[in-house]
Amino acid sequence: MNLKDLYIDFFIKKGHKQIPSAPVVPENDPSVLFNTAGMQPLIPYLMGQAHPYGTRLCDYQKCIRTNDLDSIGDTTHHTFFEMLGNWSLGDYFKDESISWSFEFLTKILKIPKERLAITVFAGNGTIPFDKVSYDKWISLGISEKRIVKTVDDNFWIAGETGPCGSDTEIFYFRSDDSIPDMFDPKDDRWVEIWNNVFMEFFKDKDGNVSELPKKNVDTGMGVERTTAILEGVNDNYLSSIWKDVIDLISNISGVKYEENKQSMRIIADHLRTAVFISADNAGIKPSNTDQGYILRRLIRRAIRHAFRLNIDIDSDWEQKIAKLIINKYKMYYKELEDNEKVVYDVLLSEKVKFNRTLEKGIKEFEKIVSNMEGDILNKELSFKLYDTYGFPIELTEELANEKNIKVDVEGFKQKFREHQEKSRMASQGKFKGGLAGNGEIETKYHTATHLLNAALKKVIGPDVHQKGSNITVDRMRFDFSCDHKLTDEEKNKVEILVNQWIKDGIDVKSLEMKKEEAIKSGAECMFIEKYPDIVTVYTIGNISKELCGGPHVKNTREIGIFKIVKEEASSSGVRRIKAIIE
Ligand code: ALA
Repeated sequence: MNLKDLYIDFFIKKGHKQIPSAPVVPENDPSVLFNTAGMQPLIPYLMGQAHPYGTRLCDYQKCIRTNDLDSIGDTTHHTFFEMLGNWSLGDYFKDESISWSFEFLTKILKIPKERLAITVFAGNGTIPFDKVSYDKWISLGISEKRIVKTVDDNFWIAGETGPCGSDTEIFYFRSDDSIPDMFDPKDDRWVEIWNNVFMEFFKDKDGNVSELPKKNVDTGMGVERTTAILEGVNDNYLSSIWKDVIDLISNISGVKYEENKQSMRIIADHLRTAVFISADNAGIKPSNTDQGYILRRLIRRAIRHAFRLNIDIDSDWEQKIAKLIINKYKMYYKELEDNEKVVYDVLLSEKVKFNRTLEKGIKEFEKIVSNMEGDILNKELSFKLYDTYGFPIELTEELANEKNIKVDVEGFKQKFREHQEKSRMASQGKFKGGLAGNGEIETKYHTATHLLNAALKKVIGPDVHQKGSNITVDRMRFDFSCDHKLTDEEKNKVEILVNQWIKDGIDVKSLEMKKEEAIKSGAECMFIEKYPDIVTVYTIGNISKELCGGPHVKNTREIGIFKIVKEEASSSGVRRIKAIIE
């Protein structure tokens, strides 16, 4: 049995009921982006509400902590992790809680008690020293030298307000060195593996602490760390949780883990988190706000580190890694299986978007740095990297950091706000005319229109002809001759074909020629009489050839993911498709 199963089995035998892991996005708590601890979904019950499963609960909970994203790349931190927890809702308290933790660690996991050390609450003016816990540990045979009393590190609360209380933390000596007599919690060979919080208080927003209706226990044990300990490795990524993921990354990149630890850890960690966020039933998609922004940052940072390892970004590397992760976890988290395709789509579409500009952006960054005076990257440049190349500001900071350069983040935020305001006004039509329809996004829609036209001819038949087209920043509309409502299968085929051509990365070429010659060469056009004598013909490989004023992208890869959102009648014998690109 692995750690999760052993844990659940043990606490069920101690009268607990297993509760399912809550989604990573809290269901009723808008104050946090993600669940950061097992207790978070249980807050109402810690506050006194009766839980339908009773007063003794246990689970493994999906947790995401992104406040110290920068420490990802070391041996113990992860943005996503699983937390094992057991709870007493006004049932048992310190005595049983500590006894069972000790029993589980020493009897079930067979950890020698000499490798364990403890911290307990030392007491402050209001809440006294936790003598009960201290005495309990002594009675279990923990030496006095291995118990340290602290104030700040032994009082636990999730954030600023809510249920809280003193805690006792259990540490393990993770090193081949001989174990020092005296325990020093600051010595990082001692790693914290389990935290037992005795939640008997509530802290409100003014900082007032009052007693909760019941005395509860909330515990949390990190699956990743504890697994690494049990397997005797000093680097979490060498444990069975990560080893196969790291091996796969090594295989894909053709480079060794030992020489590329940081990038490989970041890729493994960030993709696992991205898989769990996008598989969550909350339906999070990469975006520029909230959870979506975290998801975007994680994927883009993983891509940039893959690029660093010379992985061919266009290949299906991220799909392979995601598949491995899904297969590892789906027996515990069904949503991974249910939403498998969603996960692959999210990763692919975000990759396609970012990869169009990543390499150019990195070159631009290198250029900026080599021409720079001083060591602060100004807001114009960091905004350009964001706006033109899709670099989240944190990614720019990371690149800059590697070159000992600082970034004017405040300046960037100010520019970002100005830009948002402009976009808002533009979308309300306040700048009409200023945006003449030749922006980056419209250009993509122009080319997508040609691909759609070609795909319809292939799927429905050569008699399909364009009858009209309209493009805005938000969507494209395409009218075409056709005598029937498209079936789902036809729509699907059209979508797949267009996306295939986008994925194929076909160059879009333009040529000026005489109108007659263009027609003779088989170029499509809608109203031949509308065109001047010399026309521009755009060809996309051997897929499409059309008279057109442009503008178009240089390569189909730049377009993104194409999606049909609606198919309807326009007029007699004419159908209308509305589509978007993402
Ligand atoms: N809620 C406690 C923690 O996260 C157990 O450490």
